[in-house]
Amino acid sequence: MDEINFFPNNLDIQNKKIILRLDLNVPLKDKVILDDTRILLSLPFIKKLIEKKGKIIILSHLGRPKGIKDPDLSLVPIYKHLKKNLQTNVYFYTGNFDDEVKEKFSHLKAGDVMLVENIRYFQEETEDDENFSKKLASLGEIYINDAFSCSHRKQSSIHNITKFIDKCYAGPLLKKEIDSINLVIKNKKEPVTCIIGGSKISTKISVIKSLIAKINSLVIVGAMANNFFSYKNIKIGKSLIESDSRGIIKQIYDQAKETKCEIVIPEDCIVGSSFDGRGKEKNFEQIEDSDIILDIGPNTLERIKQIINQSKTILWNGPAGYFENKNFLNGTLSIAEIISKKTKEKALVSVLGGGDTLAAINKSRNKLFFSHLSTAGGAFLEFLEGKDLPGISVLK
Ligand code: 3PG
Repeated sequence: MDEINFFPNNLDIQNKKIILRLDLNVPLKDKVILDDTRILLSLPFIKKLIEKKGKIIILSHLGRPKGIKDPDLSLVPIYKHLKKNLQTNVYFYTGNFDDEVKEKFSHLKAGDVMLVENIRYFQEETEDDENFSKKLASLGEIYINDAFSCSHRKQSSIHNITKFIDKCYAGPLLKKEIDSINLVIKNKKEPVTCIIGGSKISTKISVIKSLIAKINSLVIVGAMANNFFSYKNIKIGKSLIESDSRGIIKQIYDQAKETKCEIVIPEDCIVGSSFDGRGKEKNFEQIEDSDIILDIGPNTLERIKQIINQSKTILWNGPAGYFENKNFLNGTLSIAEIISKKTKEKALVSVLGGGDTLAAINKSRNKLFFSHLSTAGGAFLEFLEGKDLPGISVLK
């Protein structure tokens, strides 16, 4: 297998323009950063590049603006955060990537940082457009991808940009993610349980189907479980559901039967009449038309606790409820605490991933322990699935 080209610590980067692709896609509300984990994790490497006197040009996306300059998805709050935490000149680039773009970065001095506005403001980014990638590449002499969580995307700043720069490397955060996940996969012990939450089943179908063959139990939580309830003709009121999910659920059950993987879905829930309101415990016979299922209930938690206690390896992606409202945070935090306790007692190997899972867990008042906590969601799942991630393949 080809080796990944990791950033060599002894590389002379003085006065060199470094294009650093990070994942600064942090949750925001009204332009306020709700969880800055991804920024904090990126800071040590930025500081190291500053110390080594590189000229650092940071690229990141935020959300999915689909080529539209949506002000709600501007990187301004992240720029302010960086400016506060880096003892150097930090600039913000909001211009286009035309033929003169290189000139607009020529004022950078050794140790300066330039953050480029949301790269997905340009449609060409998500199209992995060659011309656009070439323009991006023209900004620097060295390219470093330190965004493991974006490496499953075939997009310009991750993928095609590497065609136009000779020196391309993977950064230290990306290395840590790959090393830790590989170590866990290699040492995983049975029974293996995978807990999958979040909202969209269609985005996780391929990973679920591939994991079912390798694990003993699959626990479905979050809004994703609503599709399973509906498949079983259980009333779900006004809860979120994806259209056309019946076929997907049938495939999952058929495959699980074949590979003897147990599928567990919630037995009870916490409902609200709106996302902002309070919660009420209910079993499924009590669900009314105006109810929205927003968290798992106590019986479900008890069942999940039993499953975790019987497991030797846990893989978890996606929250169990609408954690943004503290009234619906309990399910996610309780699962995290049960996993943490068992990991600490050394009986369990636990790997957790995903921006939302991370943001939810960070709300815990207790210090939690996991074998590996990945900042990545989709990339983490695809890597577990054994897929070649396009952003990593190009660094080999
Ligand atoms: C993530 O949050 O998982 C990464 O930032 C990737 O975002 P994307 O799913 O919008 O590509």
